[in-house]
Amino acid sequence: MCGIVGYVGYQDATTLILEGLQRLEYRGYDSAGVALLNGQGIQVRRDVGKLSNLRAKVDSNPLHGHTGIGHTRWATHGAPMERNAHPHVSMSGDFVLVHNGIVENYLELRAELMAEGVRFDSDTDTEVIVQLIEKFAHNGAQGDIVEATRQAVKRLRGAHAIVVMSQVQPDRLIAVRIGNAGGVAIGLGDGENYIASDIPAILDHTRRMIFLESRQMAIVTAQDVTIETLDGQAITATIHDVPYDPISAVKGEYRHFMQKEIYEQSRAVADTLGGRIDFEHMQVMLPDLNLTPEKAQAIQRLVIVACGTSYYSGLIGKFFLEKIARINVEVDYGSEYRYRDPLIDANTAVLAITQSGETVDTLAAMEEAREKGALLWSIVNAVGSQAMRVSDGYITMNAGPEIGVASTKAFTTSIVDQYLLAVYLGQLRGTLSESERRAYVEALPKLPDLIGRALESAPQIEHLADLLHHCQDFLYLGRGINYPVALEGALKLKEISYIHAEGYPAGEMKHGPIALIDENMPVLTITLKDALYEKMISQVEQAKARGGMVIALATEGDNFIATKADQVIYIPETPELLSPIVAVIPLQLLAYAVAVKRGADVDQPRNLAKSVTVE
Ligand code: G6P
Repeated sequence: MCGIVGYVGYQDATTLILEGLQRLEYRGYDSAGVALLNGQGIQVRRDVGKLSNLRAKVDSNPLHGHTGIGHTRWATHGAPMERNAHPHVSMSGDFVLVHNGIVENYLELRAELMAEGVRFDSDTDTEVIVQLIEKFAHNGAQGDIVEATRQAVKRLRGAHAIVVMSQVQPDRLIAVRIGNAGGVAIGLGDGENYIASDIPAILDHTRRMIFLESRQMAIVTAQDVTIETLDGQAITATIHDVPYDPISAVKGEYRHFMQKEIYEQSRAVADTLGGRIDFEHMQVMLPDLNLTPEKAQAIQRLVIVACGTSYYSGLIGKFFLEKIARINVEVDYGSEYRYRDPLIDANTAVLAITQSGETVDTLAAMEEAREKGALLWSIVNAVGSQAMRVSDGYITMNAGPEIGVASTKAFTTSIVDQYLLAVYLGQLRGTLSESERRAYVEALPKLPDLIGRALESAPQIEHLADLLHHCQDFLYLGRGINYPVALEGALKLKEISYIHAEGYPAGEMKHGPIALIDENMPVLTITLKDALYEKMISQVEQAKARGGMVIALATEGDNFIATKADQVIYIPETPELLSPIVAVIPLQLLAYAVAVKRGADVDQPRNLAKSVTVE
């Protein structure tokens, strides 16, 4: 989940690397570092905390050169301290390395190297890699960095993305990808080349990219890029042309990326729908799924795998896929799926939902599905990501870059994608009548406007945040298709304001959480005018009877709820199946407003990372 950038060419490498790291800081912000080659050995600057600390260090003690590597860290092994920050240098000072992943057998390797006289400077697992490379360079590889790296990585267990540089062969960077510890993109320039763990780091400089697959190595010089397997077989890699939208990658008028991304959702959802509805025939078109009616009809089960917010999105998708496409759906955490010997066969479709397309647990679940012969689909935001590349078919979210660590627009756009998928499968499987299909499709173009109207609750939510930002605990209650919205609302609050919050299915409140309710516990209820409205009203009554402060999210025009709840936030009336997309907006705004009032670091909340590439 760390961010990696490498550069070899003719420009000032420090500037380019720091710029790239800035774009990747959402990946990890425990420490950052940069290493440069400039004919005077390997020069390293590192510092704990945010990238601004490293920048200050580089400003006071500048580094110049045309070849270098940089890293922004999310700590796994070794506390966030300067000596544990990447890049790590080998004992003789000849080799330097940045790494994303976990060396599962590092204790054994470390003991082995120490017995041979190697001295370690850090507590990290990463340092064993650079020390191994040095060992093999001095014994057997005749100083050749490529051969030494090849031999060293053969000793590692786990998944890794690595970039190595050496003062012995200063014209090249070596990148290796093993498994799914995050991607490795090689950006192709003219007389210069780039390496990055994520595309945004280098998109300002090139859009032509090669993505390393697992067990591949890139040898990158200013003039040339060679891709090989770890056994040294040359590979003709595909060059991808990555689309670029510079506007959406900057904060503009907004105070935080998260705020910008919340407000972008009308536009994002419009882009998700763009080109996917045939208005003449009122049907959905998803050509990138590569699906035929025969294949669609053969599907007997669909399993959704995802993590975090994407998992909650999947819980909502289950409602659409079961109701509209009449397919039995299970939703599982990526991190749990492969540990229970799941039942998968050729009639099972597995759908991964992942904003980044690089979440290691989701990728591992996809691998499991692939091995067992399932049809493999993904809903992804990051075009060109691993999840998209390994799928038989995909649907992009088209949300534009999501930078805030707490996911917002990927949640709403991935829900829309699942609705499109449900209607599309319904069309191909013949489970929809003409009038049903029309009704489902007709509801979609109204969404951007409904989201825009839900965003108008912002001033009222500011006021609510004034009342609530000192609270220590929150309960979010929802039912049916809006139960996952309660989960997501609670997750948003936890993530960015560090307030303890629980999302609960409202009907279960009486089986436990009701014991927590007193006058200090705000209870947010999603009480829309739908089939479960009356049931939700009784939960409101029960919470009030215990002295709880009830904040009801309600449908415009519902005056009755105002006689029951302490506070009411209204959203426009929305067809029930699509209501989560509109209902979540005020909850995102509330989490944001509360976090800002508490002075929290909204875009980079403590301990979290945007893209989790370790298990
Ligand atoms: C991290 C992020 C979450 C995100 C989750 C899954 O935990 O902080 O915001 O929902 O990963 O990420 P993905 O990229 O797979 O959707």
